[in-house]
Amino acid sequence: MKITFLGHASLLIESNNKILLVDPFISANPKASHININDLKPDYILLTHAHQDHTLDVEPILQNNSNSIIICNAEISTYYISKGYKSHMMNHGGSWQFDFGKIKMINAIHSSSFADGTYGGNPAGFVIENGQKNIYIAGDTALTMDMKLIPMRTKLDLAILPIGDNFTMDIDDAIIAADFVQCNKILGYHYDTFGFIEIDKEIAKQKFATSKKELILLEIGEQITL
Ligand code: NI
Ligand code: MN
Repeated sequence: MKITFLGHASLLIESNNKILLVDPFISANPKASHININDLKPDYILLTHAHQDHTLDVEPILQNNSNSIIICNAEISTYYISKGYKSHMMNHGGSWQFDFGKIKMINAIHSSSFADGTYGGNPAGFVIENGQKNIYIAGDTALTMDMKLIPMRTKLDLAILPIGDNFTMDIDDAIIAADFVQCNKILGYHYDTFGFIEIDKEIAKQKFATSKKELILLEIGEQITL
């Protein structure tokens, strides 16, 4: 499994020769100006919730990739299906086996509405198991006891956690979340994009290291392979 950080909470994941795009917010992120959304050819688009900083580029990308399937909650799914796009709807606690791997929709503590005010259902995270590696994408969320349920079913190789504070967990809560999901390899996201979520990256890494955990912070466009 290969994971490329596209800035903010946007990820490109290659799994079993399929391309998954998560929460595309690229064209309006000045820090990601070197990423061209027209270069993205996703087979699937995974959406954790409807907020604009997670869905802004969905429709522009689908203009060029009309066969892409959006994987998201029922309300976001209905929104995009009504506009003529393809979507597989899920809800919390449910799993589905796709050709790239199995996805389980996980609870997240946050909110979810589109920029125009349309209700976006409940926010979510995803566990992806692809036969070789297992990852957790938390989405925008507070620290929640529900995270303790994940390792009862899945041994994670990587947890992708928000660390920017204000809208989500901060670094210290993310360290507790790493304990809850029993994974010591963390990819941090949802930080530094705009003023409310700026962090000191060195302090963040030190805090994780003190807790005997690895915090990976990628440059935008940088990739890791699991
Ligand atoms: Ni949000
Ligand atoms: Mn967000």
